[in-house]
Amino acid sequence: MTASRIVFPPLSYVGWGALEHLVLEVKRFGAKHILVITDPVLEKIGLVDQVTSPLRQEGYSVHVYTDVVPEPPLEAGEKAVAFVRDGEFDLVIGVGGGSAMDLAKLAAVLAVHEGSVADYLNLTGTRTLEKRGLPKILIPTTSGTGSEVTNISVLSLETTKDVVTHDYLLADVAIVDPQLTVSVPPRVTAATGIDALTHAVEAYVSVNASPTSDGLALQAMRLISRSLRKAVENGTDKQARTDMANGSYLAGLAFFNAGVAGVHALAYPLGGQFHIAHGESNAVLLPYVMGYIRQSCTKRMADILNALGGNSTFLSEEEASHRCVEELERIVADVGIPKTLGGFGIPESALESLTKDATQQKRLLARSPMPLLEADIRAIYQAAFAGTIVEPNKG
Ligand SMILES: [Fe+2]
Repeated sequence: MTASRIVFPPLSYVGWGALEHLVLEVKRFGAKHILVITDPVLEKIGLVDQVTSPLRQEGYSVHVYTDVVPEPPLEAGEKAVAFVRDGEFDLVIGVGGGSAMDLAKLAAVLAVHEGSVADYLNLTGTRTLEKRGLPKILIPTTSGTGSEVTNISVLSLETTKDVVTHDYLLADVAIVDPQLTVSVPPRVTAATGIDALTHAVEAYVSVNASPTSDGLALQAMRLISRSLRKAVENGTDKQARTDMANGSYLAGLAFFNAGVAGVHALAYPLGGQFHIAHGESNAVLLPYVMGYIRQSCTKRMADILNALGGNSTFLSEEEASHRCVEELERIVADVGIPKTLGGFGIPESALESLTKDATQQKRLLARSPMPLLEADIRAIYQAAFAGTIVEPNKG
């Protein structure tokens, strides 16, 4: 038995109206020159004004940096870092989905370091972060990535992804206000919401799961399963949006402390090779990966079934775990995610390159309750092309 390492960001505000706490928190840092890193679309629709206006009214100098793209490549990271190094900023605020928040925390920390972003990558980097960097406040505008509570910044490489990860990347303050998510379109609500669900599910079956991460993950699943469909159907449903914000926040804490595994490992190459959004990549693969590893974690899958609103009382663990996979398939289908990789325009000829790239994600694969070797990964992708859940050959 080993002790679990549990890390939470130092301070969070979560719930409707949480953004009201922003100005007081900024004052606490004694900052004067603030850099807001955000998505250009969010600036265009006026969402960023909700963050910047109260700060400008208080006399802060606020610069808005919008050179943010979905699934940011390494170059986007280098650019954001160069920008913050050139400026005289003393606080960074990330506003947006995972891309904007990941770039914000990366830029805030690398602002006080030498070298390129590439030097600090997890798989190939040679340098280690040594300082906390500028204070950072993270404000998600989708309910999904959990980036506001993790110490990870994900960057796209030529055909796959890598991360910069260190506790210095943790937000000093996370502000999770569901009001900011009401204008998120249904397709993005669906994809980011299934991403959050995947965080909770993968954390719950992770080999690094602990009683703390279990509690976070199960409550996340309860909130997300009861409200994701409603949030997709009616974006202005206040209760559904609030549940999704809380569920996504909890799922973020769960996976930050227990890790994600096979679904994310197989999803990364879909983003890297075919630019499929992170949430959609996870969503399409979730039932196939969980169906494949089901036998290794039947008791936990029964618990997941109950958290998703099912009832395992009169079922064997074996039956309940099958129902769990069916329930995951149903949620993904109900929110309009295509059932197969072909539904995203991915050709079957990509099978080998996807398999090869996914096998590189050793950090993620190591947390799977069932070891996933190259042949297993290939079989799961094949299942996702065919649209049929498969299990490993027991023979
Ligand atoms: Fe994710």
